[in-house]
Amino acid sequence: MAHPDELVASARRLLLQNYQQQPIVLERGEGVWLWDVTGRRYLDLTAGIAACPLGHSHPKLVTAIAEQAHRLIHVSNLFFIEPQIRLAERLAALAAPSMGPVRAFFCNSGGEANEAAIKLAKRFQTTTQGRADRIEVLSFEGSFHGRTIATVALTGQEKYRAGFGPLVEWARILPWPLHAEDGLDAITEHTAAVIVEPIQAEGGIRVPPAGFLKALRERCTTTGTVLIFDEVQTGIGRTGGWFGHQLEGIAPDIMSLAKGLAGGVPIGAILANERVATGFVPGSHASTFGGNPLACAAALCVLETIETESLLDHVEKMGAHLRAGLARLVTRFPDRALEVRGRGLLAGLALPGDAAPIVRRCREQSGVLLSVAGGSVVRFAPALLVSPRELDQGLIALEEALSLP
Ligand SMILES: Cc1ncc(COP(=O)(O)O)c(C=O)c1O
Repeated sequence: MAHPDELVASARRLLLQNYQQQPIVLERGEGVWLWDVTGRRYLDLTAGIAACPLGHSHPKLVTAIAEQAHRLIHVSNLFFIEPQIRLAERLAALAAPSMGPVRAFFCNSGGEANEAAIKLAKRFQTTTQGRADRIEVLSFEGSFHGRTIATVALTGQEKYRAGFGPLVEWARILPWPLHAEDGLDAITEHTAAVIVEPIQAEGGIRVPPAGFLKALRERCTTTGTVLIFDEVQTGIGRTGGWFGHQLEGIAPDIMSLAKGLAGGVPIGAILANERVATGFVPGSHASTFGGNPLACAAALCVLETIETESLLDHVEKMGAHLRAGLARLVTRFPDRALEVRGRGLLAGLALPGDAAPIVRRCREQSGVLLSVAGGSVVRFAPALLVSPRELDQGLIALEEALSLP
């Protein structure tokens, strides 16, 4: 087996240097635990950045993937795919309480799902509705919607946009959140769509003030603007409801999903209400791998396991436990920890400065893996089946990292 230093050196030589990677090579996982190639064990509280709700190598997911792989891995969307139809049915049932009847489109990632949502909204406005003037799409400062050109144009953080301009002229970024009524006036009868995260995740686990999303929904309804909720990070149980918006008592016209949906197998999806779904006709949009049998079988297993193991209730309880532990750190280190953010198992501890050194200390000293959100926030996004003991172990690691001079 190659030495980890050799592997890291090869990675630095062979891969485009677009990631800031931590210098460990992970090899194996089980539940919330990971092992690197040297045999060192880590407590993983990142879950592949919120992409592994069932943790690593969950036996049910392994079986579902293996069984599907034996039967059929991939066929194109030139033909009907049974697991895709069953997944659409399952997602529609979960979305129905808030969104009513929906239709699904499947792709491979969050960025692609948002790209599809934006295209659907634009085509619905310009073509189905015959409103060629409705081309502008709005988003918010601090948001993150992906790395494609359109989603970068709508990502409200300069560091992700720099060097890629000029970006699309129909994208505009609004202040976040829009407090007063006059702020919402930026959304007009000429706005095609607005895209928003129910909680800004990459932006630093920023929960919008109470009433903001509801006011946004009302303004979009009044102006005939398509409202897109980017639930790539908040969806699939992460915040304690099936989808983040369902805790707010409101619904989008289109919702995008990815990350946790297939437990680590690449997938993306949009769900659109029946009206807006008419924006796509045969040929409007497509994806070679989107909704293939393997990814859909994995997603069906994830949804079923979240349900049968009552993980939504568990997320509520674990989220409260985690936030209480983080709040104790704010009390203990008032100068080093500013506030607790988040909902369910998407939680963050905001620091006064760069969170990367603290995250590094947790890994080096305690073998606990965490990630940074928004530069200064330590993010916890563990598997949904994490136990209180495992969370406590993460909290102790963070406490030790904060204690050091
Ligand atoms: C809210 C949100 N939207 C979109 C994306 C992009 O997803 P992907 O990396 O799968 O393209 C992310 C990824 O972090 C995200 O958090």
